[in-house]
Amino acid sequence: MTSPQVLATELTRARERTLSLVDFDDAELHRQYDPLMSPLVWDLAHIGQQEEFWLLRDGDPHIPGLLAPEIDSLYDAFVHSRASRVDLPLLPPADARSYCRTVRDRVLDVLARAEGAEALFRFGLVISHEHQHDETMLQALNLRGGPALLSPGAVLPDGRGGVAGTSVLVPAGPFTLGVDAAEEPYSLDNERPGHTVEVDAFRIGRVPVTNAQWRDFIDDGGYRTPHWWSERGWAHREQFGLTAPAFWNADGSRTRFGHRESIPGDEPVQHITYFEAEAFATWSGARLPTEVEWEKACAWDPVAGARRRFPWGDAEPTPALANLGGDALRPAPVGAYPAGASAYGAEQMLGDVWEWTTSALRPWPGFTPMIYDRYSVPFFAESGSSDDYRVLRGGSWAVAAGILRPSFRNWDHPIRRQIFSGVRLAWDA
Ligand SMILES: [Fe+2]
Repeated sequence: MTSPQVLATELTRARERTLSLVDFDDAELHRQYDPLMSPLVWDLAHIGQQEEFWLLRDGDPHIPGLLAPEIDSLYDAFVHSRASRVDLPLLPPADARSYCRTVRDRVLDVLARAEGAEALFRFGLVISHEHQHDETMLQALNLRGGPALLSPGAVLPDGRGGVAGTSVLVPAGPFTLGVDAAEEPYSLDNERPGHTVEVDAFRIGRVPVTNAQWRDFIDDGGYRTPHWWSERGWAHREQFGLTAPAFWNADGSRTRFGHRESIPGDEPVQHITYFEAEAFATWSGARLPTEVEWEKACAWDPVAGARRRFPWGDAEPTPALANLGGDALRPAPVGAYPAGASAYGAEQMLGDVWEWTTSALRPWPGFTPMIYDRYSVPFFAESGSSDDYRVLRGGSWAVAAGILRPSFRNWDHPIRRQIFSGVRLAWDA
């Protein structure tokens, strides 16, 4: 069990990261870069408001908080759509910062006295929430027009040739899908419980699909040939005139966090919709993996007959094993992390790009909602929210290492591509 001291360190680390993403002037923080995203000052105060709600107000809206109720409610993500948040009377940045500081001071006092798995779990949930918003803020900053606010990003390891387009075999057999709280105390409700499932043999890409492979798809008329696309996918492509991944420019360059640069051929392709991923897979004579296949290829050790905590084993992630944490501001070239390979030889399963799967979000058998029951439940296909979500796996370069597990499940609409989304192919074996 992680100690309160470790949780305090993780809370501080998350806050340093958040503050580095709002270290801009007030006008900048109030801007709406895109209707898909909130102004950064909304995310900032929302991070504090959720922290206060879960850790100081016991998750009970009847317990009064530090903010007046009419201000507090501005930060309810279920009440105010992202597109509408720019028009709300939000706390000014200085007030949002001081509110977050006040909450944090009190939270650290509560943490020092906290005991028991359930109490500590809530702190883990709040740490995960803050880092997830940091990734969202990076999506917003990437959509921002004008000169760059952020540097081009940290240095990454070199890739290695010969891995793009290759695959590994995952033989048929059972494996343990999902995790239990006993082994992963900070896993979220939709990752639990661990249970045995049979999976047919399949092949999966050793690494994600690269920009060079995507260029071949474009050059071969991929975006002009309805044959490769699903009906819905083609209708979306037509309506929005998609001709390349988002942020690719007509002159063959791309724009990334305000930096115009050449497109590295050996980097995993980013900013594609599910529909584009599906069309690319069909064009390639492949398909997309299910999330169950993905998790087996990532986490199962067939020799030990057991899950690994991470693809490479039990060791915590390091910069030599995966591109995580957000400093790179881009995926690493394929082949950059041979030491991070899974038991089956799949590389870069964690970090770099979120990988689209064919799966709708569904509860695992025996699912029990956690304290924050609106985290997963409203998004399950069975909830009537339609099956209009597809699960993405593996985290991106923007995900904090401490909150990511092979069992972690993300989901989004199949038309979204402001997210750091890419694709790994699969084949029947
Ligand atoms: Fe949130």
